[in-house]
Amino acid sequence: MTPLRPGDPVMLISPDRKVRIVFLEPGRQVETHHGVIAHDDLIGHPAGRVITTHKGYPYLVLEPSTADLIQHLKRRTQIIFPKDAAYILLRLNVHAGKRVIEAGTGSGGLTLALARAVQPTGRVYTYEERAEHQALARRNLTILGLDAYVTWHVRDIGEGFLEQEVDALFLDVRTPWEYMPQVKAALKLGGFFGALVPTTNQVSQLIDALYTHDFVNVTVEELLLRAYKPVAARLRPEDRMIAHTGYLIFARRGDETARAWAQPHLRPVAARRQAEEEGIPHE
Ligand SMILES: C[S@@+](CC[C@H](N)C(=O)[O-])C[C@H]1O[C@@H](n2cnc3c(N)ncnc32)[C@H](O)[C@@H]1O
Repeated sequence: MTPLRPGDPVMLISPDRKVRIVFLEPGRQVETHHGVIAHDDLIGHPAGRVITTHKGYPYLVLEPSTADLIQHLKRRTQIIFPKDAAYILLRLNVHAGKRVIEAGTGSGGLTLALARAVQPTGRVYTYEERAEHQALARRNLTILGLDAYVTWHVRDIGEGFLEQEVDALFLDVRTPWEYMPQVKAALKLGGFFGALVPTTNQVSQLIDALYTHDFVNVTVEELLLRAYKPVAARLRPEDRMIAHTGYLIFARRGDETARAWAQPHLRPVAARRQAEEEGIPHE
């Protein structure tokens, strides 16, 4: 049995399946519309059991997953959904010891997933132009003990990144194609690039910019997650789903040697003309 300790996050699920996450503090209590739960009745006991409010209503007590924590973050911006965040970690090869840049911080949804993945020896460098957004994200991560693995920059990424030779770099900003020179200056050769954009027009602009700047292995993907009603006798999908979050674009940083290797017919017109002038064969 692992007893809950002060500072631990716990997920409380009401009889009508409403979920909330609280951080345990001795002497405090949770006010619910079914009555009160004292934190002291949770501290020292394991999660995974049902506790009753002072009015006798049953609440399920669970340890929240990373997906639960992201979904219940206090937020000022749209956040990256857990289905996308999980895949981003795998595609960018983010694990303990890696150095990763992300922008914008937003509410810290992706920052949370990145920090949990790179700890204890790696680091996340997060950039956000709006101080109030980053202040909330920082609070969100501090309460989870993840602040120690993150360097916070309030800075427009148009001014460039302050780190170099990072292993991976992810952009969740409206116009990622505008920052390719800055990305190239910060990301190590062969390093992992990723971005999320909500519209196909943005995807087109981004892949054009990636080819122009000698990125290779460019992919465009989207993830559709369909939940099912968990009723064994009548198993079928939920009636509603979140049908669109964003398109995921991934690439690797190349240099001028990649230009001849890359598929020139995929590159934008200007870059293709330049390749022809340089005598680089295509098709
Ligand atoms: C959609 S939110 C990011 C959400 C975040 N990935 C999350 O999971 O919580 C986009 C953020 O990018 C920031 N942003 C946009 N352009 C920027 C720039 N040029 N430099 C730094 N931050 C920027 C915005 O202020 C906004 O907070």
